[in-house]
Amino acid sequence: MLRLSIKQIRLQKEVTMTDTMFSEIHKNEESKNISLPMPDLTYTPEVAEATAHLYERVSKVVTPIEWPTFAPYIKAINELKVQRNAVILAHNYMTPEIFHCIGDFMGDSLQLAKEAANTKADVIVQAGVHFMAETSKVLNPDKMVLMPDMEAGCSLADSITAADVRALREAYPGVPIVTYVNTSADVKAECDICCTSSNAVKIVESLGSDRVIMVPDEYLAKYVATKTDVEIIAWKGHCEVHERFSGEEMREYREANPGIRIIAHPECPPDVITEADFTGSTSGMINWVKDNQPAKVLLVTECSMSDNVAVEAPNVEFIRPCNLCPHMKRITLPSVLDALVHLRHEVTIDPAVIVPARRAVERMINLTN
Ligand code: 13P
Ligand code: SF4
Repeated sequence: MLRLSIKQIRLQKEVTMTDTMFSEIHKNEESKNISLPMPDLTYTPEVAEATAHLYERVSKVVTPIEWPTFAPYIKAINELKVQRNAVILAHNYMTPEIFHCIGDFMGDSLQLAKEAANTKADVIVQAGVHFMAETSKVLNPDKMVLMPDMEAGCSLADSITAADVRALREAYPGVPIVTYVNTSADVKAECDICCTSSNAVKIVESLGSDRVIMVPDEYLAKYVATKTDVEIIAWKGHCEVHERFSGEEMREYREANPGIRIIAHPECPPDVITEADFTGSTSGMINWVKDNQPAKVLLVTECSMSDNVAVEAPNVEFIRPCNLCPHMKRITLPSVLDALVHLRHEVTIDPAVIVPARRAVERMINLTN
């Protein structure tokens, strides 16, 4: 079988773009060469045997009825990763069959950005949302970054544009601008430095300014303001998943579940954070559960994360208010398989944007190493 390296495929793409006379022929040739044959997705005894160790891992949260549907995709994807020299970066909000069975690196936004910076793979498949894939591309401009579903966005990233940041600079001359990683590369390119929910306080304080603008998450900014003397000027973006939680709901959970520990993500509204026993990034929340082994816990965040932690904390009972992120849930085994078979949905960013956006992301990574 003819198999081309990613470099050869790129070269071929360039030829296709410049040679108009043969463009149609080249286009057909190109798709023939880029695509690999679609694997057989039948659940056979061989597939069951090859994936048995993975089912053992997730059997607490994936039913035996679901497994025959998942297993052929999991086997095919894991084989394709080797063929393509690809890695899958899986955010903590992925469903367990993705997170535990095909993910190479799992974590919160900061951990995934660091893995993206270090990978030797030719292809990065981002099992997360679009801004995460853009961050991977910004850190790896020469690699192919694939987004299994280009519609996987984020309400925070959608709440602000590069023009909005330029207007903020004019309104507050000389005040540094910190952008939460949940923004487009265009927005990052206009900001001084990035932060994630796990390092926001440290980043804000590193700037040596008594006033800092934080975009786009108003609630993260408010949370940071409670932890520092730096004056925080906030943008009014919200996460559509976390803003649905309320302090009253938390008090009801406590009443119904005496002794429950409540762990919240800083994208939650302030009245939720007031009720929480601990607040931290998605990985910070996971580590808290692993370290403290509470009898009963409520993770006030996207629903799939409880399933993923339950696999590793079998003695903890999880109370699940099931708020799903519709964007994260666009990433499925079929969409990942499709991306790898056809090298489809490649993330591209204007090189003029990549340079300043990378400066903002690398500044953050250097401060947290
Ligand atoms: P983390 O950086 O904590 O993983 O958060 C990313 C996110 O999108 C949470 O909604
Ligand atoms: Fe964006 Fe909220 Fe979804 Fe995270 S959970 S990706 S912040 S919409």
